[in-house]
This record gives sequence, structure tokens and C-alpha cells, in this order.
Amino acid sequence: MPTPVVAGNWKMNTTLAEATALAAGVREGMKALRGVEVILCPPFISLAAVRDAVRGSSIKVGAQNMHFEKSGAFTGEVSAAMLQGLCDYVILGHSERRQLFGEDDGLINRKVKAAFAHGLRPILCVGETLEQRESGRAAQVVGQQVKAGLAGVHDITGLVVAYEPVWAIGTGRAATPEIAAEVMGGTIAEALRELFGAAAGQVPLLYGGSVNPGNVAGYAGQASIHGALVGGASLQAAQFVEIARATAAAKALS
Ligand code: 13P
Repeated sequence: MPTPVVAGNWKMNTTLAEATALAAGVREGMKALRGVEVILCPPFISLAAVRDAVRGSSIKVGAQNMHFEKSGAFTGEVSAAMLQGLCDYVILGHSERRQLFGEDDGLINRKVKAAFAHGLRPILCVGETLEQRESGRAAQVVGQQVKAGLAGVHDITGLVVAYEPVWAIGTGRAATPEIAAEVMGGTIAEALRELFGAAAGQVPLLYGGSVNPGNVAGYAGQASIHGALVGGASLQAAQFVEIARATAAAKALS
């Protein structure tokens, strides 16, 4: 079984001071916690401060996005080379990037390859919209996102995949653990196996979408779900630590 993972996607929240305090709060709460890889994904401008705040602990840091080119005339962008030394992970293909910033599978694929090439671990996000689910296309959409996002990738060491149904993000309308497990243990696991054979079994699969301390055990209790990608609830240290604790506990039982 892959290592359980709980990642906090802070999105466009927290000032530098707030990010530093939040990271310190998570570090404090995580002191006695084992059995789960915890990742904090602050805004770019707080990456260095959060890295420093968790230095010497087991907590890892991730970026929320990046550009695929190394450097150049790309105003406002940040490259994988720039992230080296600041973080170990990078969230790619988040549905907010896809929907609000026009990112498509081809672009995301280039980013995934650039991340691997620079020793960053991509957290590749996939998920269907409500309209796609209601028209019976969830499996097809998610399977395609996985395959296109990883096209031309040969070594998936370090990869994490997050299933975040768009209709469950920030809505309080979380997918049931059964729906999430159906997509993750079915569609996503099968697509990964088809592409990468036995190596697919090492990829942590995270559920994301309205995860909170009260519902996370339901996901972590599913064999095909190895952790969570948390948005809103990751902005409160106590809630996020509780999500990590409950995930480690549920995974230790399974
Ligand atoms: P919420 O947990 O706020 O629904 O956000 C999920 C998410 O998009 C994490 O990447």
C-alpha cells in the first residue's frame, strides 16, 4: 500500500505572516503523529517561509502550480527550476486551473513532465464536473484526464494522483466514500495500471472535495483511497491536524 498522504491546498489564502503561523501551528499539532505524509501547499510567495517553518520536521511543502518552461518571457509565471529547494511537491491540473485559467490536458502534461524532470513530485488532479457526472461521463472524463496528463511519462516514481470531483470542491457536498472509491479504485487505478503496470500500485490516490475532520475516516477507510487533498479545512491548523490524525488511524487499521 502507498504511504498515506494528507495535503493542504491553501489556494489564494494567507498572507506571509498568516502562512508562517499556520505552518507553525500544523507543526506543533503534528509532533506526535506518525504514519502519514503531510504536505502544506501555500501560495508561491510563502513557500520559503513555510519551508523554514517546517524545517527539521517530517512535514513536506508543495507549490500549487508552475510553468513548464525553465525560464524566459512568461510574465507572472514560476518554473520548476525555481521551485527546486523550496518544495518537494507541486499540485498540477487542479480543477480551478482547468476551469478558471483555461488549462487543458496537453498543458498539464507538459507541466507534469517538467516537474518530474526537476525532481518535483506532481500531485496530478483530475475530476469531472456535475454535468459530466449526470450525463454518465465521469469515468470516461477522469480516465482521459489521467492518461492525457501522463502521456509520454515512463517513470512515475513520486507521482500522486488526486480525485477531486468539481461538484464537491468548496460546496460542502462531498462525494460519498463509495462514489470516490468507485472512481479511484476503478477508473483511476485501471488507467494507471494500463499505462504503468505494477508501478501503479505505488501511487498514492487522494480524495479531495469538502473533506473535513468528520468525514475523512470514511474515505481513508476505503482500500483504494490513500489520503486526502484538503482545501478549506486546511486553513485551520487544528482541523487539518485532526484530518491527518484520522487518516493515519484509519489507514493503520486497514
Ligand atoms: P475544499 O476542501 O475546500 O472543498 O477544496 C478541495 C480542493 O480543491 C483541494 O485542492
